[in-house]
Amino acid sequence: MDPHRGDESANHPAPTIWPVGFAVGIACIFVGLILGTAVLVVGAVVTAIFGFLWVRDVTSGLRAAPTPAEPAAPPIPAHLPEAGEDEVIRYPRSKFLEAVTLGLGGVIGGVVTVPVLGFTVLPPFIKQGHPDIDVGALDDFPENKFVITTFLLDPKQGEVSRRTAYIRNNGLLDGKPSFTILSNRCVHLGCPVQVNGLPLENQKKTETRNGLEVDRIPTAAAAGFGCPCHGGQYDQEGNRIAGPPVRALDRYDFMIDNGRLLLRKTYSVAKVDGEGADARIHKYPLAGPGQHIDGPEAWLYPLQPPR
Ligand code: FES
Repeated sequence: MDPHRGDESANHPAPTIWPVGFAVGIACIFVGLILGTAVLVVGAVVTAIFGFLWVRDVTSGLRAAPTPAEPAAPPIPAHLPEAGEDEVIRYPRSKFLEAVTLGLGGVIGGVVTVPVLGFTVLPPFIKQGHPDIDVGALDDFPENKFVITTFLLDPKQGEVSRRTAYIRNNGLLDGKPSFTILSNRCVHLGCPVQVNGLPLENQKKTETRNGLEVDRIPTAAAAGFGCPCHGGQYDQEGNRIAGPPVRALDRYDFMIDNGRLLLRKTYSVAKVDGEGADARIHKYPLAGPGQHIDGPEAWLYPLQPPR
């Protein structure tokens, strides 16, 4: 050991668990972004606490009590003498460099990471829904027939936001209008599902209301729905009956306002028992194409971003 170098370990920070806790907190934040707000908050709290303790520990040397005021320093000679061994070191260089490195690393990491996280993680949490879509008066939907209804979710986005819903008026249930409103997005890989029946193009109606154009095409008796991509087949309730789709067709929530039918959010359906107004819908939050939402297979999709 070089006697002139002294004991370097005296300037090294003692091992602490704060970085470990900080890393655990960050991991919790990422998991919370997927699983839910509670985990996210716990991660943020753990990160803040351990981060604070870590920084406090690292900068403890810099915050040491200042030495008493000394008389004015003599003029600096042209050639500085080498520091003597008995000179007081007030701020160890290693502590200073460590703090500067951590600080600069944090700033650079923040500058690089925050925008990326903002663009990749925030969108699912920002309200991306759409206003209720007025698709027509109740009379525009004859009972027990599907009407192919197309509309723009967001006219500002143009055709890219065009959606199709298959709407069937089921008549009244307990005195209230009942509708079956299926999304045409195939739940295998997302291709547009078609009606297995004849669209009555000559009865097509286009209605523009509040700047929103809606096309309605009645169908002759539809024998379910088929997907042109890989042959997926669905019955009249949207249940999968053949091919690779993994569940029933997604549906739209709806409400009636002043005799008008308004489409709301979409949700996913594992299966439907019964038919029409008496159907019992096994309803789940909206899931992606190909995603199982019930049964053991759903365990393979535990971490999904909110939609
Ligand atoms: S996308 Fe519809 S069956 Fe494959």
